[in-house]
Amino acid sequence: MVIKDFDIQVASAQHVDYAQQICDEMAESAKARGTGIAQRSPEYVANKMLEGKAVIAFHKDGTWAGFCYIETWSHGDFVANSGLIVNPIFRKEGLAKAIKENIFKLSRTKYPNAKIFGLTTGLAVMKINSDLGYEPVTYSELTQDEDFWAGCKSCVNYDILMSKGRKNCMCTAMLFDPTEKQKEYEEKMKKITHKATLLERIENAIFKHKAES
Ligand SMILES: CC(C)(COP(=O)(O)OP(=O)(O)OC[C@H]1O[C@@H](n2cnc3c(N)ncnc32)[C@H](O)[C@@H]1OP(=O)(O)O)[C@@H](O)C(=O)NCCC(=O)NCCS
Repeated sequence: MVIKDFDIQVASAQHVDYAQQICDEMAESAKARGTGIAQRSPEYVANKMLEGKAVIAFHKDGTWAGFCYIETWSHGDFVANSGLIVNPIFRKEGLAKAIKENIFKLSRTKYPNAKIFGLTTGLAVMKINSDLGYEPVTYSELTQDEDFWAGCKSCVNYDILMSKGRKNCMCTAMLFDPTEKQKEYEEKMKKITHKATLLERIENAIFKHKAES
């Protein structure tokens, strides 16, 4: 199986019938891992599809393959790409990475100024986020929107989170900050330009020296 065997698209009304299967798989996978998740109902997932805030993947034979959706917090200042799930029969093929790339692109288009963040215990997601430019941060850097943290109530580790005053828990927090990324990019460009002008000056000096001798 190769990644070309999958079709990844922005989910819409035609996909709402998959919401139940997606939620069942999310719950099953969380049970198997023995970790917690912010549980979502099929209605919630279907609504994300109707709003154009989700990405769904299918194998070329039509089998549902994966899913992920966008959530916004703090009046759109923060975005999370949540509920990443890959059908167990299609795991370890690079599909989660491809789905995350798609939902990240969709998030950047819809909310270009928002900080994009994630909370995860999974190594696969940490790797994928890191490749997308996310960096590990403390929980204080995340949205402080009460509605976001309320989502942790259905997690098995909620007591731990609260006992630590919501400062940390079992999940690693990762953040993509577009303002910081822009600054990093400008710094890099400044260095490249500086190097180029330096090179130009050296070349000019050599040229002048040759012309004079
Ligand atoms: C986590 C999950 C989405 C990964 O899906 P996947 O399609 O198998 O992942 P990919 O094939 O795209 O792998 C991405 C990277 O993670 C690594 N990886 C995948 N599964 C892994 C695992 N169980 N443990 C450690 N690394 C893993 C891959 O080797 C790859 O790394 P690389 O880029 O260095 O090669 C999938 O296992 C799943 O649906 N799990 C249950 C739900 C879940 O945990 N969701 C995340 C909630 S935060």
